[in-house]
Amino acid sequence: MDTETIDSEEWDELMLNLEATIPVYDRINRFATLGQVKKWRESVRQKMPTEGRILEVGCGPGSFAEDVVGTDLVCLDPSTLMLAAAEPRVNACRTERGESLVEFVEGKAEELPFEDNSFDGVCSLFSFRDWYDKRAGLSQVLRILKPGAKVVIVDPAKMNKLHGFFGWMWMRIWVGAYARIVCKTSDHPWKWLTKTYVHFGTTKDYIRMLEEVGFVQVKGKVIFPGMATIWEAHKPELGKGCCSNC
Ligand SMILES: C[S@@+](CC[C@H](N)C(=O)[O-])C[C@H]1O[C@@H](n2cnc3c(N)ncnc32)[C@H](O)[C@@H]1O
Repeated sequence: MDTETIDSEEWDELMLNLEATIPVYDRINRFATLGQVKKWRESVRQKMPTEGRILEVGCGPGSFAEDVVGTDLVCLDPSTLMLAAAEPRVNACRTERGESLVEFVEGKAEELPFEDNSFDGVCSLFSFRDWYDKRAGLSQVLRILKPGAKVVIVDPAKMNKLHGFFGWMWMRIWVGAYARIVCKTSDHPWKWLTKTYVHFGTTKDYIRMLEEVGFVQVKGKVIFPGMATIWEAHKPELGKGCCSNC
């Protein structure tokens, strides 16, 4: 595992650990982020276009998607179990609000099963660090976005090595202790999930990667040190240094 890739054996193990979090996912996330996660999710919703077709990559159990109001939303995740948790939860909220249902698709960021230039916005929250080939995933996101459209990503990047060490302590000691209590076992999934946190890169690593893949107007901002960086980037407009996918 490094800042760009996760090998297939480790990714399979990661997926099992992610699936084991489903029953307590929101509870532990709220604790781990000191309640801030709600605010970060809302800020991503506000950055997404209010009309058109939006994709969330790595929707997990639907914690972000349930509060997306109005837009035509597609939720993708490689895990059947995550999708099975998300679909009834999200679509119950949509039905209550009298909105069209969300489309749930099983798939991976690295092989997005969508047409070129078919989305008005893409977002990914707390999933990018789990992609097994981050560069390939970002290239796929670029391919399916319409020219000029935006991707928004949130994940806990580090500022430097020292910050990474404190982040590891936070995950291992603080979040780990709470997960042990909530999961009622010392062998809880967060023990393993700390690994993806440790190997995840810095805010600048992924600004560079987004630019190298072909995005423009790339920004990365730490919104809570060690817990959340938000990256925003656009697919070039047609005729303005646009890639072969436009
Ligand atoms: C921690 S959950 C995030 C859930 C949700 N987005 C949120 O805001 O809380 C991470 C999700 O990313 C998914 N994931 C892992 N690897 C992926 C990949 N290569 N492509 C797309 N999604 C992936 C996992 O299955 C998991 O459901």
